[in-house]
Amino acid sequence: MASIKIDKVNKFFGSTHVIKDVSLDIKSESFTVLVGPSGCGKSTILRMIAGLEEINSGTISIDDKVVNDLPPKERNIAMVFQSYALYPHMTVFDNMAFGLKIEKKSKEEIEQRVMEAAKILQIEEYLERKPKQLSGGQRQRVAIGRAITRKPKVFLFDEPLSNLDAALRVQMRVELAKLHDQLNATMIYVTHDQTEAMTLANDIVVLDQGIVSQKGSPMNLYNNPDNLFVGGFIGSPKMNFIDSKVLSKSSKSSEVDVMGTGKLNVPKISENIQEGDSIKIGIRPEHLILNAESDSLWESKVFVVEKLGSGTYLYLEKEGDPLVVQTDGDTDIKVGDTVKIGFDPFRCHLFDNKGISFKNS
Ligand SMILES: Nc1ncnc2c1ncn2[C@@H]1O[C@H](COP(=O)(O)OP(=O)(O)OP(=O)(O)O)[C@@H](O)[C@H]1O
Ligand SMILES: [Mg+2]
Repeated sequence: MASIKIDKVNKFFGSTHVIKDVSLDIKSESFTVLVGPSGCGKSTILRMIAGLEEINSGTISIDDKVVNDLPPKERNIAMVFQSYALYPHMTVFDNMAFGLKIEKKSKEEIEQRVMEAAKILQIEEYLERKPKQLSGGQRQRVAIGRAITRKPKVFLFDEPLSNLDAALRVQMRVELAKLHDQLNATMIYVTHDQTEAMTLANDIVVLDQGIVSQKGSPMNLYNNPDNLFVGGFIGSPKMNFIDSKVLSKSSKSSEVDVMGTGKLNVPKISENIQEGDSIKIGIRPEHLILNAESDSLWESKVFVVEKLGSGTYLYLEKEGDPLVVQTDGDTDIKVGDTVKIGFDPFRCHLFDNKGISFKNS
């Protein structure tokens, strides 16, 4: 398969600077997921890799060969879109065979490749149907099948599952993971879905307004976000942020304020942070400690209880955004109850006044 190197790439649409000095190394056979808010440049990056969008500066290389001037059809890349983009008047078989016919492959080879892809995707029984006679999930499989038949070096997926219902998404997600194993292909995948990103990726790339905010393994981004943006973007429900201040600092340990009522002892903080500095504490809903007398630093009233069966989210009143706490599915806690909250200092992320994580080790 193929490795991809994106080196200091910039892209403008008119005077709008959309992709800003992006560099990424994508290993051969890896599964890379691009995430970020709407408009941050995810589709543009995929389209530049595919050759559908020109770049203004920098280089894109596939297997160490610069492809800036190579037309899309010579890049050996297949792209699967959110809208399946199937030909409505053609059967499933013909949709999957179309690219190969254009490439003037022999009838036998086309037949063999389509059947192979249909088998992998379990759509053999639908080959004579037209797209409108298929469910959304089946159509998306045909679109993926059309990509597989071409045996590309690289697969690009732009939110391929977002039109599907929740159950189908889960099923297709598992199938995509299997597909990646079977084909040993390099895959780059754009999604808004946290679970897809966390479960499918070897590496997640978090984009913020055309800039790579952080790249790493899913658990590394979850455990060690470099900044507030990544901390808030990875994880669902999102990380809580609390305005805080450094109360005291020594070489061994420091104290930071918790909502003006508690003090949190953090092991060691960066040299750049001084006593009196304003900071933010980040803590995930699943890491807050509920009603443990000894650890409690703060208490507040519950104003929303969301029961999901497998767990419960409590929303607590605090200045600014509410504090979200995750607890057991069968909790008795109700709206209006007052609960005590504890903070495990090792689970707290600390960010300076520019939103950059600083060490707490
Ligand atoms: N052809 C175009 N002409 C002008 N601006 C464009 C064009 N295509 C994209 N843009 C702008 O470039 C930015 C990045 O767009 P892009 O489609 O890459 O975002 P995205 O991250 O894929 O968003 P979404 O999650 O909504 O799909 C956006 O601000 C968008 O408005
Ligand atoms: Mg997009």
